[in-house]
Amino acid sequence: MKELSHIHRFVPGRDSGRTPLLLLHGTGGDEADLLPLGSALSPGASLLSPRGRVLENGMPRFFRRLQEGVFDQEDVVRRAAELAAFVSDAREAYGLAAPIAVGFSNGANIAAAMLMLHPEVLAGAVLLRAMTPLQDPPAASLPHTPVLILSGAQDPIVPAADVAGLAAVLRNAGAEVTHKTLPTGHTLTQMDVTLATQWLADRSTQGA
Ligand code: MLT
Repeated sequence: MKELSHIHRFVPGRDSGRTPLLLLHGTGGDEADLLPLGSALSPGASLLSPRGRVLENGMPRFFRRLQEGVFDQEDVVRRAAELAAFVSDAREAYGLAAPIAVGFSNGANIAAAMLMLHPEVLAGAVLLRAMTPLQDPPAASLPHTPVLILSGAQDPIVPAADVAGLAAVLRNAGAEVTHKTLPTGHTLTQMDVTLATQWLADRSTQGA
């Protein structure tokens, strides 16, 4: 088996009707962090959970930032390509269909970058507290790619206009975007879990 580029966890699925989930943690998280969330969101789905390869004061991330909310654009492009290659190698190694990304914060931002730069890699995405990763995104083609964006109305990190811009870019690329703003901050809540679980269940029924 080809050695995979990212430290990761893989949990084989029990339900072949469920699309595999690619779990992408937030700053300071790791490959174990979102496994419980993944099982809660889509019970029985295969879970692929890499660890970000950038360290910020010892905290894993998926790309470099210059300061909070200001991203190293070259690094976003480079890391999105590395992660896209990881997903494609892992699909071959584990025999997986194209996954739906479930990303939180920095993980949601690299998922959004992958949607724009490598649109063929993901079957869809759940972006939890995402913001715009690329200032000058290419004209991606994401026909009917389902994307759920869940934002927090009181999120101190993500300005409302920024995530609205991200939703618009994805919609213009053809994605089917559902964007909801919840009465909360940057931290995930039970509402996120409930909405994302329902959204994923609707997608598996359609695919079955
Ligand atoms: C990022 O750096 O991707 C965002 O600011 C979110 C975060 O990870 O704090």
